[in-house]
Order: sequence, then structure tokens, then C-alpha cells
Amino acid sequence: MTSNFPAVPIAPDVYWVGAIDWDIRDFHGYATSRGTTYNAFLIIADKITLIDAVKKQFQAELIQRISAIIPPEKIDYIVSNHAEMDHSGCLREVADLVKPEKIFTSAKGIKALQQHFGNDLPLTPVQDGDRVDLGGKTLLFMETPMLHWPESMFTLLEEQRLLFSQDAMGMHVASAERFADEIPDYILEYEAAKYYANILLPYSKLVRKQLDKIAGQGLAFDIIAPDHGPVWRRDVDRILQWYHRWSDPQPSPRVIVTYDTMWGSTATMARAIAEGLKQGGARPRVMPLGACHRSDVATEILEAGGLVVGSPTLNGNLFPTVADLMVYLRGLRPPHLVGAAFGSYGWACKSVPQVEEFLRETGVDIISEAAKAVYVPDEAALRECNRLGREVAAAVMSRCDQQ
Ligand code: FEO
Repeated sequence: MTSNFPAVPIAPDVYWVGAIDWDIRDFHGYATSRGTTYNAFLIIADKITLIDAVKKQFQAELIQRISAIIPPEKIDYIVSNHAEMDHSGCLREVADLVKPEKIFTSAKGIKALQQHFGNDLPLTPVQDGDRVDLGGKTLLFMETPMLHWPESMFTLLEEQRLLFSQDAMGMHVASAERFADEIPDYILEYEAAKYYANILLPYSKLVRKQLDKIAGQGLAFDIIAPDHGPVWRRDVDRILQWYHRWSDPQPSPRVIVTYDTMWGSTATMARAIAEGLKQGGARPRVMPLGACHRSDVATEILEAGGLVVGSPTLNGNLFPTVADLMVYLRGLRPPHLVGAAFGSYGWACKSVPQVEEFLRETGVDIISEAAKAVYVPDEAALRECNRLGREVAAAVMSRCDQQ
């Protein structure tokens, strides 16, 4: 009988048994406009193994997909590559049902899972380079600390060169298709970039280190199966090359101009700055925060050379949406940006210095004096905006020329 929630074979004796979250639009502050998937994988071998689990509310879907292949009680091992709740939220319930012999995870994974679920799960530590024989199939564990949690690790199914990469190489896309080659390229590249920008960007040096380590070990993969979005079963080098590019950003003429506005003055300034940027040879992208989500701004910043941020002064402070973005970007720490601040005010310009302080804390090199306007930008204020745009353009183009 056909299961209502079937498993999907992704390789011989390996099945996708995850869940599709069509509804989610906010993933801890990240706008998931295409929803997401929580991928889990079942390996059929002498020791039947489940790789990761799903968000708690999708536990029944996971169990039904597993049951389409084997009774869940037959699972011997569980591997927890990542302790975050979208992949281990139902681990307690699954373990109670399955009663696995062992749950393999890194040493820090044990600590994190114990802090979530207590001390009575059969957690078994593995280290980088450890192997577990499933009977004709071998798991190789690769610790990937801070990609993007301390306990994170990859698991390689060696004989099939199948890498279970947890969050890395993933994307938030809900789809009926399970494979990347079934999804249009423009969606893949944008959503993979968005995922990288919003989840992995602060750890780019570690991403690069891990990619170098994999290359140094001569490892190659036929399939990459992340914990979100489609499985890469063809042309896996594409996602690896994107990760090389994003983890080592090159100078770029793209400049993000982002702002919010009370009565249109800061918006007018943004448009004048964009003209100055264009005249200076840069490629401005204007992203009003009334229309653009913070996570979309972060995505555009991923391959930008400059960041210009504007805020009116509201009650002696930043406009709230600008404060939201600045705090978010301070955490993501986009590297190698030049930038500047601008904004309008009535009787005391309090917002612009605060934007500049946030930009410094984010690591942005402020290379142009801020542009300010009292109430409504006059011709002189708009000339200042044009000057700012041209100066930022000159800086990003100089970096591009030196490349
Ligand atoms: Fe998909 Fe870091 O959890």
C-alpha cells in the first residue's frame, strides 16, 4: 500500500525521510519566503541508521516516512550532525520509540543534547576521523565546529561518497522536488546565497578551512545531502564552488543603499546617493527597509563592496527598522565593506552618528563623511548626497581595479 508520506530514495539503500514545511515564513528572524524542509535520511545496512531528525511538530511525518521503509523500531543508530532544534527537536520522542543502541554525535553535541534533553539518551561521542562500520557501509565523521554551532559535524557515507552536510550547502526551500537538478538554477543560487549570508557568513574563515581540509584529504563527493532544501546528486561542484566564492569575497562594484524614512526626506537622500554611486561607476542597489526584509538585505550584502545606511532621527534615536538591521548585521559581520551614513533630522541629528557607530562595530570601513539634511533635503544637501555616492563609488571601484 502506498504511504501517505513516502520515503524518497536518494542513493542505493539511502532514503530521504524528512519533512516539508510549506508554511514557515520566519525562521528565527530569517524570512523564509519559500518555506523550508527538514531533511533526515535513513541508511539501510546491517546497522540501520537515521541521520538527523526533524523539527518537533513534524515528528509524525518523519515516522511515517521511515515506516514506509522499515518499522522504526529496527533503527539501530541515530547520528546527530547538528543539535539545533530544527534537526533534533523530536529526538527524545524518536529515541523513546526507536530505542536506538547508540546516538552518535560530537563531544560538544553530547553536551548540547544533554542540555536540551537530559542525560538518559544513549549518546556516544565521535571525533573527527572516526569511522563506524554499519556492515558493508561505513560512516566517517568530520567535525565542523562553528559551522554553524560548536557541535556541528558532517557524516560521510564512504562507499557511496555521500556527504550528509547538515546546515552547510543547504537552503530554505520547500518543494515537492527532492533534488537540486529538478529546481530552477535562479532559485538554487539565490536561496543558497541567502542561506550562506544569513547563517554561515560570520564563520566564513571556518568554511574556507573546512573546504581546504576536504580538498587536502582528497575527498570527493557524488552526492551532498544537506539538512535543508534539495539534495545535490549531480554537479556537486556547483554548490562547492559557490561556497568557495562566498567564503572568500572579492572586491565588488555593488553598493547597497538601505534606509528607512519618516516623511520621505531620507528616501530622497537615498535616491540622490544612488545617482552619485552610479555616476561614480558603482552598481547601487537601493533597499528601503519598509519594503525589504533584513535577511534580504544581508543576502545582497554577501557579494557587495559597499554599504550605505540611512536613518532619520526619531526621539533622539535610530528609526527602529534601521536599528533592527544594524544589530542583525553586527552579528553577521560582513567582511571587506566600505561605507557611509546619511539621514534627515529636525532639531538634533542623533541617528547618523549611531549608524556610523554600528557600521564601525560591524567592521565597515567608513570612507566618506556622512550626509545630513534638516527636515527636507535642499539642493545643497542633495549635492552632499551626490558627493557621498561618488566617494563610496570611488572607493569600491579602486578596490576592484586593484584586484
Ligand atoms: Fe538547520 Fe542550524 O539548524
